[in-house]
Amino acid sequence: MAVRPKIDEDVLRQVAEIAGRWKGRPDMLIPVLHEVQEVAGNGIPKEVAKTVSEAMGVPLAQIYSVQTFYSFFSKEKRGRVLIRLCKTAPCHIKGTKRILEAFEQALGIKAGETTPDGAFTLETCECIGACDVSPAALIDDTVYGHLTEERVVELVQELKELDKLNGGTA
Ligand code: FES
Repeated sequence: MAVRPKIDEDVLRQVAEIAGRWKGRPDMLIPVLHEVQEVAGNGIPKEVAKTVSEAMGVPLAQIYSVQTFYSFFSKEKRGRVLIRLCKTAPCHIKGTKRILEAFEQALGIKAGETTPDGAFTLETCECIGACDVSPAALIDDTVYGHLTEERVVELVQELKELDKLNGGTA
């Protein structure tokens, strides 16, 4: 089940503060969006994009076009842990489909969804430059290669424990 939590006022204040430092500097839009996305829950939903637009003085359309061009930026709030499984040919041949099903089963969601507790988002993506260890996934900033169904089960368990230690609720 997909989750779309509301963005709270404190987060919007932080976003305005970050973006406001670069008012009139549209050339800084990409680094600002990176920083803002971390604060706003791994995504840049509409209210956040609007706040950035007002604080930087950059048209909203320009923000949407950056979001559309770079798959790194999401228009939705995502989970605290972002799992991106490569579906490009070399990984596909080595079994991405089976690995995706294993992630879906272990997390109880489909690709493109976030767990109801906001802990995990599962996505597929294009090549992440780890073809030599395919099938591979990028989990937050770390590459995990040579994935098997068994490894996925272990990995999800480890990630849930880590999220709990970090104060999450998974
Ligand atoms: S094709 Fe999957 S990492 Fe390159």
